[in-house]
Amino acid sequence: MFAALTFVCFVCLTATTNADHHHHPCHAPNMTGQMSVMSLKGEIKTHGTFTYDSTGKKLRFRSNESHPTNTSLGLDLLMFFDEGVFYEIDAKNQSCEKKSLQSTDHPLDIPRGAKFCTTATSGSASIEGEGLKVNMWTGSMHNVKGTFSMYVTMGCLPVATFYSTESTSFLFSTMEVDNTIKEPDLLMVPAFCEYQPLEETPEGTVNSFFNEFV
Ligand SMILES: *[C@@H]1O[C@H](CO)[C@@H](O)[C@H](O)[C@H]1NC(C)=O
Ligand SMILES: *[C@@H]1O[C@H](CO)[C@@H](O)[C@H](O)[C@H]1NC(C)=O
Ligand SMILES: *[C@@H]1O[C@H](CO)[C@@H](O)[C@H](O)[C@H]1NC(C)=O
Ligand SMILES: *[C@@H]1O[C@H](CO)[C@@H](O)[C@H](O)[C@H]1NC(C)=O
Repeated sequence: MFAALTFVCFVCLTATTNADHHHHPCHAPNMTGQMSVMSLKGEIKTHGTFTYDSTGKKLRFRSNESHPTNTSLGLDLLMFFDEGVFYEIDAKNQSCEKKSLQSTDHPLDIPRGAKFCTTATSGSASIEGEGLKVNMWTGSMHNVKGTFSMYVTMGCLPVATFYSTESTSFLFSTMEVDNTIKEPDLLMVPAFCEYQPLEETPEGTVNSFFNEFV
């Protein structure tokens, strides 16, 4: 379904004359949920839980290696989009790296400047309780040559985000979303990371949520 919708949004991206100027991107609420990241080759990169503070623009994502499917990536990320920094955490050996963010793009909230594409129903629009109505938004990625399409519910909960660059494409999908923060501590810098110095970003490197999965 998302491939078909992405095609629709590609048409939207290239036919800007159809842009609807009356729509403004909605803003996601505080959330807890699960996220899967899949490459377009069908490889499930990772699966885990996220906590998102939409007011403070903070995001924690922890992959769960005991998920039944094999995943290739173990990650524990804590991102502060307003401050432009993030931590790669290794809770097992109590270590972390602190880096600066060159792009605040992430799949849980529609970025500013996104264009409304269309509204569609996944499943059935006519059978009661069997459809999920989503709004689709598209735009260009920041500091990376690429585009995104995002699918959110009418209440602005993220369903899926498709990122496509010249070299790779990824689908981020979210499930079991709740509009509360269940563990606020997950959005605090762990004590063992507190005095971590900021690492220098090598020339030409763009740190972003997306790039952590590439
Ligand atoms: C989201 O959570 C943060 C931290 O708990 C809180 O400060 C903020 O008011 C919450 N925002 C909303 C819209 O509930
Ligand atoms: C990890 O996944 C397993 C299997 O789905 C689940 O039982 C467990 O609660 C998860 N752990 C965390 C920390 O989410
Ligand atoms: C998961 O990984 C194990 C060990 O690498 C491998 O033997 C198994 O076939 C994999 N399972 C799937 C479903 O890919
Ligand atoms: C922690 O573990 C990672 C790999 O699991 C390793 O690269 C890193 O050097 C370790 N850090 C410390 C302080 O032991």
